[in-house]
Amino acid sequence: MNDQHPHSHSDFTEMDWEELAPVLEREAVLATPMYEQAADWLRTLLGGAEERAAGEASVRRVWDVGSGPGVVTCLLARAFPHAEVVAVDPAPALLARARDRAARLGLADRFRTHEAELPGDDLETLGTADLIWTSKVLHHVGDQQAAVALLAGRLRPGGVLAVAEGGLPDRILPRDIGIGRPGLQARLDAAQEEWFAQMRAGLPGYRETVEDWPALLTAAGLADTAGRTFLLDLPAPLDGTARDHITARLARAADQYADLLDETDRKTLTRLTDPKDEASVAHRPDAFFLTARTVHAGCAE
Ligand SMILES: C[S@@+](CC[C@H](N)C(=O)[O-])C[C@H]1O[C@@H](n2cnc3c(N)ncnc32)[C@H](O)[C@@H]1O
Repeated sequence: MNDQHPHSHSDFTEMDWEELAPVLEREAVLATPMYEQAADWLRTLLGGAEERAAGEASVRRVWDVGSGPGVVTCLLARAFPHAEVVAVDPAPALLARARDRAARLGLADRFRTHEAELPGDDLETLGTADLIWTSKVLHHVGDQQAAVALLAGRLRPGGVLAVAEGGLPDRILPRDIGIGRPGLQARLDAAQEEWFAQMRAGLPGYRETVEDWPALLTAAGLADTAGRTFLLDLPAPLDGTARDHITARLARAADQYADLLDETDRKTLTRLTDPKDEASVAHRPDAFFLTARTVHAGCAE
């Protein structure tokens, strides 16, 4: 449940990210407090605590690669108020959404978009960056090491590449929810792992990679690697937006992992996602949203 994947279970690699735009947008908005903490940490890496003001001013070019609808791109634009910010993504409709969002937030004058797909499309026309952020994107790229190397090569000396990958699986319900068999989340995690492995194996240019992100950053020539994990803690009772989001996520899980779950769990998911059912996420007092994302950073020398 860490990510949204628009596939049917027979098709692991054909992504329709544009169809997922509203889901990606809502998820990133819910997670804004977590991304704000990550941006604070990146400011200290780029500027140092004492030179914070100077550090901010020296950050002139920020890219968000695989930006999706641009929620985090806009957050980075606010965190680095002297920077020109570029949302990079292969999906034109998501970039259009990102531009609309930037305009609504009064950021349009230093916000632009660039259509590109890693690692095939080179980013040379963009020049170099002080900060490259990429969140939940590299695991959709067949050759993750090649993508890290390409991004590392676009940093100016002293610039930082920040890769948000992994952390903790999302938690949304207690172990025993009074319907079905206790431990549904653990079984959804196992199904997701199975699905994920098949998805990755089907990606164009797939290469097996040990997902040791500090090692991948170091192999790409970056130094001073560091990692930090940021928590999102939305306790019960949830508001309507968070309930809608979790309902959509469970509905998608029910579809994606149908072949990987037993009949009891499929029935439980049907009840959890049916707003007419009193036991559904739309009504339950015990639904919450707890997750954590790890950001791995490396610095160009
Ligand atoms: C799970 S979404 C993450 C969106 C956003 N970074 C976030 O954290 O909310 C993955 C994004 O990566 C983009 N993407 C997928 N494959 C890509 C590739 N090979 N190169 C660049 N972006 C890619 C998709 O279009 C989508 O917007």
